[in-house]
Amino acid sequence: MVSVLFVCLGNICRSPTAEGVMAALLEAEGLGDRIAIDSAGTGAWHAGEAPDRRSTAAARRRGVQLAGQARRVRSADFHEFDHIVAMDGQNLADLRAMARGLDGGAQISLFRDFVEGGERDLDVPDPYYGGANGFETVLDICDAGCRGLLAHLRTTCGV
Ligand code: 4NP
Repeated sequence: MVSVLFVCLGNICRSPTAEGVMAALLEAEGLGDRIAIDSAGTGAWHAGEAPDRRSTAAARRRGVQLAGQARRVRSADFHEFDHIVAMDGQNLADLRAMARGLDGGAQISLFRDFVEGGERDLDVPDPYYGGANGFETVLDICDAGCRGLLAHLRTTCGV
C-alpha cells in the first residue's frame, strides 16, 4: 500500500479536488486498494467543513465526487504518509518547516511538478477569492497532475 496526502491552505478547494480526481482515476484503473489518499490544510480555519460548494459543483459536472471534512496537517502525517504533495509553493515551504526535526519518512513534493511535460515550480492557483473559472482551472491541473503522479507511483513504487 502506498499513501499520498494532498495539502493546500484551507483543505476545502484545491486539495479535496486533487483527492477526488485521484480517487476517480484510481477507481478507473482498479488501483483503489493499492494507493491510499487523503487531504489536509496547513491552516485550520475550515476544519470540520465539507469541501467548498463551488469546488464540489465543478467537480460533479465532470463526474468527480468530492468528499471528506477539512482538517489541518498534523505531525503524524509525516510518519504515516509515503508522499505529501503540496498544491503551491507556500504550502510546500510550510510543510518543509513543519517536517523539520520530525524525522518522518514522507517525501514532500509540489503537485504541478508531476504534470508531464510541464514547467517546474508552478502553483495550483488558489480559486477561493476568484471567479468560477478558477475552479475549472484547478480541475484541469488536477487531471494532469494526478495522471503524472500515478505514472510516477507506478515507476517508483511498482503499483
Ligand atoms: P484552498 O483554498 O487552500 O484551496 O482550500 C482556500 C480556502 C480558504 C481560504 C484560502 C484558500 N481562506 O482564506 O479561508
